Parts: sequence; structure tokens; C-alpha cells
Amino acid sequence: MLPRLTGVFAAVACLGAAAPAAEYRSPLAVAVSADGRTLYVSDKTALCVAVLDAANGRKVREVPIAGEPNGLALSADGKTLYVAQRKANSIAVVDTTRGTVAGQIPVGAWPVALAVAGKGKRIYCCNRGNHTVSVVDPAAGKQIFEIPVVRDPASVAITPDESRAVITNFMPLGAGTDPELAAEVSILDTAAMRPVARVKLPPGSTMAGGVWIGPRGDWAYVVHVLGRFQLPITQLEQGWVHACALSIIDVTAGTRLATLLLDDLTKGAADPWAVVGSADGKTLWISHRGVHEVSTLDIGRIHQLLAGNIPDEIAARGDGTQDNLWVRIKTDRSRIAQLTNDLTALYIARAIRRTPSGGQGPTGLALSPDGKRLYAANYYAGTVGVLDAPEARLLGTIAVGDQPPPGAARRGEIYFHDATRCFQHWHSCATCHLDDGRVDGLPWDFLRDGIDNGKDVISLVGMLHTPPHNRRATRLDPRECIETGVLGSHFVAPEAADVDDLLAYVKSLTAEPNPNLPRFAEAVRRGKLVFEGKGDCATCHPAPYFTDKKTYDVGITSPNEADACYDTPSLVEAYRTAPYFHDGRAITLKQALTEHDPKHLHGKLKDLSPKEIEDLVAYVLSL
Ligand code: HEC
Ligand code: HEC
Repeated sequence: MLPRLTGVFAAVACLGAAAPAAEYRSPLAVAVSADGRTLYVSDKTALCVAVLDAANGRKVREVPIAGEPNGLALSADGKTLYVAQRKANSIAVVDTTRGTVAGQIPVGAWPVALAVAGKGKRIYCCNRGNHTVSVVDPAAGKQIFEIPVVRDPASVAITPDESRAVITNFMPLGAGTDPELAAEVSILDTAAMRPVARVKLPPGSTMAGGVWIGPRGDWAYVVHVLGRFQLPITQLEQGWVHACALSIIDVTAGTRLATLLLDDLTKGAADPWAVVGSADGKTLWISHRGVHEVSTLDIGRIHQLLAGNIPDEIAARGDGTQDNLWVRIKTDRSRIAQLTNDLTALYIARAIRRTPSGGQGPTGLALSPDGKRLYAANYYAGTVGVLDAPEARLLGTIAVGDQPPPGAARRGEIYFHDATRCFQHWHSCATCHLDDGRVDGLPWDFLRDGIDNGKDVISLVGMLHTPPHNRRATRLDPRECIETGVLGSHFVAPEAADVDDLLAYVKSLTAEPNPNLPRFAEAVRRGKLVFEGKGDCATCHPAPYFTDKKTYDVGITSPNEADACYDTPSLVEAYRTAPYFHDGRAITLKQALTEHDPKHLHGKLKDLSPKEIEDLVAYVLSL
């Protein structure tokens, strides 16, 4: 039955126990039942899956999910909903008829996204904490394979014949000094249970999030951010610092066909999150968390243009005095690469429309089975936006629950993730400080310390305890650091109240232990002794933040820098802040401690045996 929706739905009270005052609603992912009648919405902070009636916008029930619900997937018969529980390292198995959790399936660390392969009766699960994909047999209720991918797998899609799984890796894995550094897409052969291709996105790609595969299984569509980290951050205009991209991957060949920019010339489409497509594969919808919009893409037309089949009316739209890029691609296919720098191509093709999602921070998307409705989880608004999918028009919103007014830390979090606070909406703080104030793995060239000397992004966890700030210790006071940080990255002066909120948000960030710790507990114990003793590390990296808050020359020099003095970085969560050193030259901690001490000034590394280094690495990974 076609759900009929008009106007804005009122908030519907929770059927369970009354929510505590500051329990924010944060819908992250959404799934629709096969009959289109029921929506399942994971709420990351209220710790539940809300079950909504799509026709009348009412909440049917809430299923408590204690382990922090993230991605969702329904079984082929719709009787079971699988919920990735990031903080429980398991998949909750929800009986959709009873609305109860019927079981738990342990998977890798920090599961965040799922896909069900119905025919083969398998579930694929992305584990961000240990960089693997779990293959689960739901009948047996257990994981049968765990396959390593690249870094922070964020999303998975399966080809219709179930022969391939395509996985996005949220973060790039490489050195900041590598100009080609970029996030990658992994393709798995599901029969052999191994990766068959790693497809690199264009240089500077990060935040590779949603992936969707077309009905013939030939193309995978991946949304991501494109960061031009070689340019100084003052080049913010026209997408030269951050652009929002869609990459088209040839699944069979394991290659990238094209990367298209979704922004328009003077208005960024920051922080893409999810992508879904129509059953005929001709339309894609993409959520843009940073600008509170959904874009609708005529991907059928884009494939037609890429194949050199250009209707006269599009060919006639010149680009200044020259032919437009589509016409130029027709005569020279190597020009497809130029799409990566072209903010006009989709507009010339009349192939994109942008629509408000109905609330702040749209993340997960789902399309009704009849293709008529698009649902967008508006994370900060606590609502699900309901759009007319073919028309790309907002019809209304459904409240997932009562949303308490935001306190200072939540207001700061909202600001931090809001690219509309930035000049022309090109990026949010979270475009570089991914995952609640952490890192994107790229070096960025702010001009406060000179030009052409990029600095690897710094995690903000524990920041208020670890002045001075920035790698060159350019700021002493955290408030001043944040205020100038907003100006220097967003080119808009913040209000004093915004800075207060950002400070409250940064203060609220707490370190998460390395989820892989138990595996190397013995080595950690030995490494601690080396760290505090023979290695002489604790002198400059003392607990609890593992920095003495001073700057030193440890012999790691860079061009365009007055000297080699850098702030001693905190080692808290070093397991997730790769790459290392001020310019990100070391990819792994082992490299940091074995390959980058040319003058023997970095502790007593030169006196340590390979075994002691191994233990030291284990210890630093545990901080
Ligand atoms: C283009 C990427 C980018 C954006 C956008 C960005 N930052 Fe940063 N941030 C960095 C980099 C790189 C550093 C390290 C700079 C250095 O060492 O000189 C940094 C450092 C910081 C620091 C200092 C941390 C410390 O203790 O040393 C703070 C605080 C900070 N950023 C906050 C913010 C806030 C708030 C926003 C949003 C208004 C923001 N950043 C936006 C890249 C970015
Ligand atoms: C004299 C002070 C000093 C001593 C002693 C010292 N460090 Fe450091 N450490 C630094 C400084 C300064 C940096 C930053 C260098 C840069 O950014 O180029 C750093 C960077 C690091 C990093 C990279 C962190 C990141 O996020 O970029 C690691 C890991 C590290 N040190 C571990 C150790 C270990 C292990 C020892 C003991 C063998 C040690 N350090 C001894 C001052 C010191």
C-alpha cells in the first residue's frame, strides 16, 4: 500500500518508560519493510530502534538496543531486523513481529553497517574498530569469516547475484607526505571470501561513507569528501579545499570510472553520508549531513553522457566560449578525469537537484519499495524526513521521540557538524575532525605558521588538558584556539556563545579504549616498562595525557619551517590517529618508532631491540 503523507507530523510520545530529561534523539539509519508500511530507525543516543508506521507517522514501539544501534538491515522475509551495535561488538537480532531482541551475534570490533545477502543467507558487517568485514551465517547465529579490509570500513553493498561485496573505507591509510593519499574502496569475492580489488579514490578523498550497487551489479556508487590538502586552506572558494563527490566504480573490473562533484559553484554540499538508488538504477539520492539536504541525481543521464551519447540540447550548453566538458569527453575519454575538478558538469547536464531533508544532519536514507518515498534520518533534529522521491520534494517529518532542548555540549556538537556555519558551506569542523573530533588522516596547510608546510590533523580528545595547541604550539588558550580555528577554517567569525558551546563539546569528548586490546595484553605490560624505563619516553610523554605540554626538536625536519620544534603530541588514542608526526610522514606506530629518528633525539629508541620496539608499539596502541 502506498503510504500517504502530507504535512508535518507531530511528535509522538514514547510508549515505553518516560525518557530522562537529556536523552537526545539521534536517528542514524533507517530501513523500510518490504510492504512499505513500517520504518525502523536506529537512534544512537536514545539507544533504541524506533518502529514507525509510515502511513500515519506514529510510533508503534521502541526496541531498546543497549549496545548503541548503528546500521540496520532487514532479512529477506522481513521477520528479522539486524542491528549493528558498535559498543557491544555484536549484531542484535530483532524479532520484528514481537519487537524484542531475540539474540546477539558476536562480530568484529565496532560494527557500524550491515547488508543482507538473501539468497546466500549471509550478513556482511563492517567492523570499524578492527578494520574487517564479518561474514555471518544468521541461521547458525555466528560469524563464519572475518576479512581484513583497509581502514575503518563504513558501509557495504552486495551485487544482486551476491558474487561481490563492495565496502567503503572511511579513512585513508597512508602517509601525509604522499600526494596521492586517499581513502579506498574494497571489493570482496564472496565465494572465495577474500578481497579481489582495492580501488583508490582521487587524492585527498576521505569520509568514504555510503555505497549503493545498481540493479545489474555492474556499477557501485560511493559518496565521499574530496580534500585538496596540497592547497592552503585559504582557497576555500569553489571547492578547492573540500568538495563533495560521488565516485562510480566498475565492480567487475575493480576500477574507478569517474568522480563527479555534487556541489554547485558557490554552495558546497558538505559531508555526504548515504546513497540509495531506484530499482531501475536511473536515479540516486544522497544525504548531505553538513548542509541538511538530500540531492537527487539523474545517474541514468550521467552514464549516457559518459558513454559519449550527448543530446543536442546539452551539447549546445557551452562553457564560456568552449564546448562543455561532456562534449570534450566525447572526443577524448581521458577527460573524464577532469570531472573531478568540475563544479559545473552536473548542472550543465541538469542532472542534480538539492532538497532540504527536513532537519539538521541527515545521515541514513531508505527508499520505499515502490520507489515513491525517500526517508532521511535527520540525526540532530531527531526526525525522519519524508520526501516524494521522484519529485525530490520534502513532504514532512516524523519525530522519532521528544527532543529535549540541546544543552551546551550538544549545541557545540551541532555547530561542529554544521557546514552551513562555513563560508559557502564547503565543510564543517567534522569534515577534518572525523568521528567526534578525531582526525581525517590528511595534513592541512593553515597559514598561521607559514605556507606550504601542512600539518596532520590533531584529535581534540583531551584538548583542554593539553595546551599549547597546534603542532607548532601557536595557541596557548583553548578558547582563543577555537575562536581562531573557526575563523581560519570557516572564514566566518563565531559568536562568543558558539565558542562556549564548542568548548563544552570538546570537553565532552572522552577517549575510547582500543577495542583490540585484549589480544596483546602481555606485550602491553612489557611495553609499559620500556616506555617508562629504558626507552625514556615518559619524560616527554607522561601520563595521563602522555604529553609534558612542551615543544622539542626530536630531529624530524620539514621544508618551509623555521626550526624542527614541535609540540609533544598526546598519545591518547594513538591507535586511531594515524598517520604520525607533524606532517603525517609515518603510517604506522612501528614506522614512527623505527624509521624516523635520524638524529637519535627521540627518546632512547636507538638503544631498543626489535622485541622491545614491538612491546613499545603494543603499549602505545593501548593508550
Ligand atoms: C580543513 C581541515 C580542518 C577543519 C575544517 C577544521 N580543522 Fe581543526 N585542525 C586541523 C588541523 C590540520 C589542525 C592542526 C593544525 C596545526 O597543527 O597547526 C587542527 C587543530 C585544531 C585544534 C587544536 C588542537 C590542539 O590541541 O592542538 C582545534 C581546537 C581545532 N582544530 C578545532 C577545530 C574547530 C572547532 C573546527 C571548526 C570550526 C575545525 N577545527 C575545523 C584541521 C581542520
Ligand atoms: C624529548 C622529548 C620526547 C621524548 C623523550 C620522546 N618523545 Fe615522542 N614525540 C616528541 C615530540 C616533540 C613529538 C612530535 C614530533 C613531530 O610532530 O614531528 C613526538 C612524537 C611522538 C609520536 C607521534 C605521535 C603523533 O600522534 O604524531 C609517538 C608515537 C611518540 N612520540 C612516541 C614516543 C616514544 C615511544 C618515546 C620513547 C622511545 C618517545 N616518544 C620519546 C617528544 C618526545
